[in-house]
Amino acid sequence: MRVVASLSIEGEKGAGAHNLRKRRIEIVSLTVIMGAQWGDEGKGKVVDLFSDEADLVARYQGGNNAGHTVVIGDKQYILHLIPSGILHDNCDALIGNGVVIDPAVLAEELDALIAAGFDPEKKLKISANAHLIMPYHKALDHLQETRRGKGKIGTTGRGIGCAYGDKVTRQGIRVLDLVSKDRFVEKTGEVIDFYRPLFEKVYGEAICTVDSVMDEVWPHAERLAKMIVDGVTLINDALDQNKRVLAEGAQGIMLDIDFGTYPYVTSSNPSPGGVSTGLGVSPRRVDKVIGIVKAYTTRVGEGPFPSELTNEQGEYLRAKGGEYGATTGRPRRCGWFDAAVVRRAVQIAGLDEIVLTKLDVLDTLETIPICNGYEFDGQKTNLYPLDRHNLDNLKLTMEEAKGWNQDITGVREYDGLPEKAQVYIQRLEQLIDCPVSAISVGPARDQIIRRTDRFLP
Ligand code: GDP
Ligand code: IMO
Ligand code: MG
Repeated sequence: MRVVASLSIEGEKGAGAHNLRKRRIEIVSLTVIMGAQWGDEGKGKVVDLFSDEADLVARYQGGNNAGHTVVIGDKQYILHLIPSGILHDNCDALIGNGVVIDPAVLAEELDALIAAGFDPEKKLKISANAHLIMPYHKALDHLQETRRGKGKIGTTGRGIGCAYGDKVTRQGIRVLDLVSKDRFVEKTGEVIDFYRPLFEKVYGEAICTVDSVMDEVWPHAERLAKMIVDGVTLINDALDQNKRVLAEGAQGIMLDIDFGTYPYVTSSNPSPGGVSTGLGVSPRRVDKVIGIVKAYTTRVGEGPFPSELTNEQGEYLRAKGGEYGATTGRPRRCGWFDAAVVRRAVQIAGLDEIVLTKLDVLDTLETIPICNGYEFDGQKTNLYPLDRHNLDNLKLTMEEAKGWNQDITGVREYDGLPEKAQVYIQRLEQLIDCPVSAISVGPARDQIIRRTDRFLP
């Protein structure tokens, strides 16, 4: 714990005097890692890497719509709910209250890690207040998307928005409800009765029964109940004990329910507010916020994407970058780096630094176009607009960087990068007004170029 300021407020003598009060303003070691585009920036790889220096990694929002890939040697692990730090012996893991949990998916993920030789149940804790994704949420997600037709959001179909919807309308079922079967059955029955007319009269579909929900969920209840904790105390105690804590975001800022490309967003806050509400830590405890940014842009699902390439260049990035969803396998839409998107993320999240990923994917290009801003009706802006209904009449302002045309996957030092790659990085730093502290040049753990001695403060 570093004390950065010591403030003493001394009251005046006499009537109405304040007592002498001393306050220490402390910066503690909570580092946040979040996606700064439309998700899939490489958060899994970076969190895994940084976890080597951490004592605890906590997921703060999202659910199993996330797919975070970690590559160790010739093995690839895709984590959907369990924090990506779980693969490190030194690191405990917490699923925070802001996450929505599908019990069967979590059980499956635990089994996969056990089969791979890890012992996740020894380390993983689950916040009692996290909400559950129930079978009717998944059914409703599909029914809503079908009903939206051409206007669909392109969700992952995992019931995410419907589970968060029940949380907000106050009929959610939480992890702590897994400890009492009677209570779980009663609550589930109430919610199913609530939804029955919607399913049957509006969608003309039968709703699941309490029995079928019990068949799906209850086999996992006892196992998950053993991991339930007061997550707020767990993380604040860890910080009080000077432990190094990483908060792992899912999705990305442009998918944020408040700041993203609404309604083509997810239903939680990947942005920094989500850290406080999703873990129960004061914003004063956040030491550093690190944005993960791809050296180009991708998005999966529907919604605006100004720098999207619907031609062979987009196909090239998809093929070279392996841009297929880690959760749904859908092809990701690809485009050039959009500085207006990342600049907006830097602004919203107050990013201290960026980890730039997948730079190697650009290795074979002669020239690399960069979108440095937009023009609307002759007006220039370098920030993704939040005050427009649509992006009609938007023109991209582009510039071109020179490609380095050289394999960089084996480079480990910044100075070892071709000069043109360094120029590309420096130009992105300038455009987004944020330093790049590390550069990822391949999926493997060691394919990283560090510009600092330590990842964590
Ligand atoms: P996340 O959701 O942000 O964790 O990202 P995903 O795991 O969904 O997608 C990132 C993909 O890129 C994964 O397949 C990673 O293994 C891979 N990846 C991560 N960093 C790099 C990199 O620097 N270069 C290349 N070529 N692949 C990378
Ligand atoms: P990670 O953590 C990329 C997208 C979906 C859809 C929208 C809403 O791996 O970066 P939802 O199922 O959340 O209601 O879908 O959000 N989406 C993601 N896109 N990466 C993700 O997670 C995503 N999670 C959700 O494709 O457009
Ligand atoms: Mg992903």
